[in-house]
Amino acid sequence: ARIPLVAGNWKMNFDHLEATYFVQKLAWLLRDAHFDRRRCQVALMPAFTALRSVQVLVEADNLPIEYGAQAVSVTAQGAFTGDVSADMLAQLGCSYVIVGHSERRKYHPEDDANIVDQVRAVLAAGMKPILCVGESYEERRQGIQLDFAVGQVNDVTRDLAKEDMENLIVAYEPVWAIGTGMVATPDTAQQAARAIRDHISSKFGEPAGQAVRILYGGSVTSKNASQMITQPDVDGFLVGGASLDVEEFSRIVRLA
Ligand code: 13P
Repeated sequence: ARIPLVAGNWKMNFDHLEATYFVQKLAWLLRDAHFDRRRCQVALMPAFTALRSVQVLVEADNLPIEYGAQAVSVTAQGAFTGDVSADMLAQLGCSYVIVGHSERRKYHPEDDANIVDQVRAVLAAGMKPILCVGESYEERRQGIQLDFAVGQVNDVTRDLAKEDMENLIVAYEPVWAIGTGMVATPDTAQQAARAIRDHISSKFGEPAGQAVRILYGGSVTSKNASQMITQPDVDGFLVGGASLDVEEFSRIVRLA
């Protein structure tokens, strides 16, 4: 069975001091709730500048909290001013890297080829990519949302090996639901997650389809998470805004 994952995407929020406070408080809340990491995984995606502080805290007390980065360079090292490599992130104890978030696709020149290379770099460094896909309002209006999201998954995974599927996490994040308060219905999330899983099964075999974890993201809160998590193909959440409030984030973790 797939272990649920609740990941907080902090985006460009929290410096390393705020991150330190958050992690200590979250650890305390999880302990209080008898959190069991074998039944649910919880991960934080801070800015690069806070990763080292998070690592120190997690390692010092062996906290049941994983963490990762929000983007990565496609190259290993060299003259790429401002970039951070997958090996650097792995050295910091990162378990995950978000790849292809719609905000990155929009504000940075990240196209499919670049996203494929990021996924490969993350896998090669022994981390798990969280590949974000999802349609905009326009594709939904045209009724092509499932083809669109599955097409994005196909474009990125086409040349991967079936063994890679065990380490791949897909986040279905419809662009119209991100930061808008307009959450997808549980049914909509389930349909998309199902379509993505069916696609992976047909391309890489049934075991690969069953192994890949599929998250929902887009205006997740503790109010809508409980319905969503009962959907058979939704394996957890990628939480934006609600991950900045430690009490609220821990409520979502408890629901999962
Ligand atoms: P919100 O939860 O703020 O809608 O953001 C979702 C998101 O983009 C997570 O990656």
